[in-house]
Order: sequence, then C-alpha cells, then structure tokens
Amino acid sequence: MASFEKLRIAVVGAGFMGRLHARSIAESEIASLAGIVDPVEAAGREAAALFDTHHLASVEDALGRSDIDAFVVAVADRQHQVAIPILEQGKPVLLEKPMAHDLDAAKRIAAAARASDARLMVAHILRFDPRYVQAAERIRAGEIGDPIHASSGRLTVRDVGLRMNGTSSVCFYMGVHDVDILQWLSGKNVTTVFARAAGTLMASLGVDSEDAVFSICEMEDGMVGTLHCGWSLPSDMPTGIWARSEVVGTKGVVDVDVRDHGLRVMGPRGWRLPDGLHWPEVNGRLAGDLREEIGHFVAAVRDDRPFVISVEEALRAVAVNDAILKSVRSGRRETVADWRL
Ligand SMILES: NC(=O)c1ccc[n+]([C@@H]2O[C@H](COP(=O)([O-])OP(=O)(O)OC[C@H]3O[C@@H](n4cnc5c(N)ncnc54)[C@H](O)[C@@H]3O)[C@@H](O)[C@H]2O)c1
Repeated sequence: MASFEKLRIAVVGAGFMGRLHARSIAESEIASLAGIVDPVEAAGREAAALFDTHHLASVEDALGRSDIDAFVVAVADRQHQVAIPILEQGKPVLLEKPMAHDLDAAKRIAAAARASDARLMVAHILRFDPRYVQAAERIRAGEIGDPIHASSGRLTVRDVGLRMNGTSSVCFYMGVHDVDILQWLSGKNVTTVFARAAGTLMASLGVDSEDAVFSICEMEDGMVGTLHCGWSLPSDMPTGIWARSEVVGTKGVVDVDVRDHGLRVMGPRGWRLPDGLHWPEVNGRLAGDLREEIGHFVAAVRDDRPFVISVEEALRAVAVNDAILKSVRSGRRETVADWRL
C-alpha cells in the first residue's frame, strides 16, 4: 500500500478491549476503522454505531470484503484461533495477548502465519510502556551488569475475576504480561517452574478460577525469578493495576513500580489512582501505550519493518504459562515445553 493511504483495520470482538482498539483506530491519523466483527449482534451493532462503522457478523463476512487491509483480534483468550482464517488469507493481524490459551493453540496460530507469510503481532501492550521499555533498554546497555534474579507480578480487583467468570485463567488474562516482562527484561528464558495457586475467594463467590498464582522460575544461566498474578484485591482499591517488576544484577537494580501513575484524586470513593499510561484520555483522544501499539503495528506493516515483539517471544510466554498451570495441577516442578515451531 502507498505510504499516504490509511491502513483500513477491522476489529474482531466488540467487548472491553475491542472497543478500546476501535476507538484508538478511529482516532488514528494513519489508520481507519473498517468494521467491527462480533457474532453477538447487539454488542456488534452498538460498538459499530459508537465508532461510526459497520457491523459484520463473522470473520468470514469480513474476509469477503475488499475494503479491509488488516485486523485487530480482541476476543476471549480461549477463542484466539479465530485469527487463523485471517492469517491464512495473508492479512496482517494484531492479536490481543495472550497469543492463545495454551501452547498447542498458539503454535497453530503461528503456523498459519508462517505458512502464508502473514504479519502477526501479539499485543503485549507493556512493550509500548515507557517505564518497561526504558527498564529493558537500560539492562541491555549494561547499567545493572548481568541479571542475577528478578521478580514480576500484578494484582487486580476481584471484580475482574467475577467478570471473567472462569472463562480464562488468571495466568493467561493477567500473568502473561509478567511472564513476558521477566524474560524480556532479563534476556533469559524460563526453563522450569514450581507454582502454587490460592483459590478460596473465587470459589466462595461461585467462580471456577484461581484467586492468585505464585511461581518460582529457574532460568537460563543460573538466574532465578518469581512471578505472581491475581484478581483478589478488594473492589475499593484505588487502582486496578497493582504491579511491580524488579531485576537485580551484578552491578545494580532496575525497579518498575506502576501502582501509581503520579496522579492522585481524593473524591467520594476515597483516593483514586487513575491510569495515566495504558489508555488515558488526553484532550479528547485515547493516548498512551495503546495508541503507541496501534501506531507501531500500522507503521511496521506499511513499511515492512519488524515488530518490537516477535511471534517466538509471544509463544515462549504461553509455554511458561502452560508449565505454571501444569505445576499447579501436579504439585511438582515442571519443565517449560519447546515453543519453537
Ligand atoms: N492488553 C491488555 O491490557 C488487555 C486488557 C484486557 C483484555 N485483554 C485481552 O483482550 C482479549 C479480549 O478480552 P475482553 O476483556 O475485551 O473480552 P470481552 O469478553 O469483553 O469481549 C470479547 C468479545 O468477543 C466477541 N466474540 C466472541 N467470539 C467471537 C468471534 N468468533 N468473532 C468475533 N467476536 C467474537 C464476544 O461476543 C465479545 O463481545 C482477551 O484476549 C484479553 O486477554 C488485553
């Protein structure tokens, strides 16, 4: 496509994340929104009306059109295989994280992209967050020496677990961010894991899900890491993003603390810590990491440049999560399976 043309992108999934992507694309100078796909007619029509585009009932309908250049796929974790027919047609896809809900499904998606040479980027949004990106760059530049050990984790409020209602593991909906951060920041792969889950809260609320999962990771070159994720925080926490990451090296430390984005508001609900970086509204438009992510995807497709995260890196995060859930079930240390195709 000529560089002055906008990339026409359809969004698959009209839920929480799909609507954020749709808005971000509709507000973009380099992309345009070419439709919203959702088999649930009410949700699809409502979102399409909101962003002044048309509703399509299925991916097959969308693939029959000539006015769609690329797709954002934002359906539930266990349905990411809807990206396969799109990739088989060679269309570029920005696929929400996690790449899939298990390694077999992720490998099928990667194989479809490879077979047709389609561009595929998994939307690990923290790859566009200035705090994490600077942490990775400073470690690469040698500022902390060689990484020795690291930890990364995030908790959110229990309302998210209730909304998900057992449709995704907390390891895949949330924890996959930290699996990627641990391996990306340290530059080392996780080789084995030992994991335990807490599960009393969600069970008491009638939800078939872990509350939180804690893992000890053996990593390459003798490194040790820990991971944790959970949707166990009380509903009245001032923020839904309670996350920290730390890498300790032979010469120093990198510490990322994103529990507070620098803005504190005291109101009728007590202190609130609003999102200042992921997708804040700034002067009437969505800004932050999400806008950077869409901008990068469009520019990399248009200019045929590599994405900042490779398919292999997304696959290896899924492989670690598979081993974590296996260890929770077996009660033993588990080896991370080979994620390579
Ligand atoms: N990057 C982030 O920070 C972040 C945050 C939240 C969610 N996510 C990811 O985004 C994805 C979507 O999560 P969500 O919370 O928006 O889910 P959601 O349940 O709110 O929305 C999913 C939508 O997909 C639709 N859908 C189901 N099958 C479909 C199909 N075959 N074709 C088209 N649409 C279909 C559903 O009807 C629903 O409207 C998940 O993979 C999740 O992990 C990412």
